[in-house]
Amino acid sequence: PAPGWSIDADVVVVGSGVAGLTAALRCSAVGLRTVVVTKARLDDGSTRWAQGGIAAALGEGDTPEQHLDDTLVAGAGLCDPEAVRTLVTEGPAAVRRLIDTGARFDTEEGGDIALTREGGHHRRRIAHAGGDATGAEISRALVTAIRERAIRIIEHALVLDLLTDEDGRTSGITLHVMGEGQHDGVGAVHAPAVVLATGGMGQVFSATTNPSVSTGDGVALALRAGAEVSDLEFVQFHPTVLYLGPDSEGQQPLVSEAVRGEGAHLVDASGTRFMVGQHELAELAPRDIVAKGIMRRMQEQGADHMLLDARHFGAEMWEARFPTILAACRAHGIDPVTEPIPVAPAAHYASGGVRTDLHGRTTVPGLYACGEVACTGVHGANRLASNSLLEGLVFAERIAMTIATDRSGAAPVTGGRTAGAPDGGPAVPLLLPEARHEIQQIMTDGAGVLRSATSLDDAADALEALHLSAQHDAEESGKAAEPGVESWEATNLLLVSRVLVAAARERAETRGCHWREDHPDRDDTQWRRHIVVRLTPDRR
Ligand code: SIN
Repeated sequence: PAPGWSIDADVVVVGSGVAGLTAALRCSAVGLRTVVVTKARLDDGSTRWAQGGIAAALGEGDTPEQHLDDTLVAGAGLCDPEAVRTLVTEGPAAVRRLIDTGARFDTEEGGDIALTREGGHHRRRIAHAGGDATGAEISRALVTAIRERAIRIIEHALVLDLLTDEDGRTSGITLHVMGEGQHDGVGAVHAPAVVLATGGMGQVFSATTNPSVSTGDGVALALRAGAEVSDLEFVQFHPTVLYLGPDSEGQQPLVSEAVRGEGAHLVDASGTRFMVGQHELAELAPRDIVAKGIMRRMQEQGADHMLLDARHFGAEMWEARFPTILAACRAHGIDPVTEPIPVAPAAHYASGGVRTDLHGRTTVPGLYACGEVACTGVHGANRLASNSLLEGLVFAERIAMTIATDRSGAAPVTGGRTAGAPDGGPAVPLLLPEARHEIQQIMTDGAGVLRSATSLDDAADALEALHLSAQHDAEESGKAAEPGVESWEATNLLLVSRVLVAAARERAETRGCHWREDHPDRDDTQWRRHIVVRLTPDRR
């Protein structure tokens, strides 16, 4: 439907996690009229669920260079070293600015920031808050700061598509808003700069640590707008997610790597520590290695989970250091003080996303991306633990500076058409909300932790069938889905799944978090390169 209302701004930020809110704060601070739109409430994204913390070379003896080395190793040959250098050198100051904004990190007795370890880090480098509630504290601080500024916020607003002018430059977004009074229904925010900070796409799988809002909306919008997307095959599975049984679906409770960082052991049902001997860092090896170690042991033993044993922490340490995880486990009838925690890998983080340069610019002029939705090049084939909050922070700040520079002399925008849909309607047929479950099942079976040509072919066929049936319903039988958040989410999930599976089929090797059973080795002769996708209108 055509927009029923519109507002104007200098910049519209889509998403309200660490990346979106930081971008909005900094844009507003340099005098840009800033609007934030977010799909649910301001604090409903992935940021508030982050447990372990934020990585930066803040400790004595640590250096950005060492942080860079660990990040490059985890990225398995596909990080952009310049992007990583930017992240690790600008990281410490960005964390200090976050503290100035109001975030309170845990400290040692002398007042220094307390630092823990996580997988792939050779040093204590992870700042945390409230024990294991780092994201919640960052979110609280940023939401408070944003409410104190003259920044317009539109909640319950699902972004639909990008608007562009005749020259293909960004001129705003269309969005579907529910229950926000004056701005209800489909509307538009006209702005020459759009910042995508919509987070991840964990909901393409049945079990994920991501909240229900993580449906790949930003990547889908970018694909429909003809922007380049890169590295989508690299979905990171977190090794230790609380295992709640084979029928448990949707967001699952995370058991932070910091629990292993503080000395918890991974054991099988007989109590054997199976990561010892597999990697010099054992349980603290990079995340893909631990996830694979767990999956292999599960396969060998026909088990559906492994165990994380941290009984030796004792009640006092559990309560002080990991109150969130303790409460989540107890809510599910498991007491980590007296018994090991059942864990299994689950989808956690999209290492790829909308391709950007070092200033957050995508390949569509005026469209920027930061945070999980973006592919800045810092994660390569596998993100190093706790680099994501840092990436959101550092690149959001860079984007604000870049927009301020890029827009000087730019004319204000007033109109524009939906990129990829010249008639102003949806650029793709909308799916019925029920398709979400089907997509999740297809992706879990065919494109989960263990992939092969056969499993990926099956997934591709099943997704194509869903797409064709939606097209048929929309064009021929007049049974098109009603526009609404759930149908848009299902539609976005399908588009990002199709592109993810296509990339995973093409990458005939095992690298980082992409594990092909039929190509078990890393192949640097052919595959030390990125799979970059830009959809032509007929493939959207
Ligand atoms: C965790 O706390 O284990 C998650 C950290 C991350 O995903 O970076």
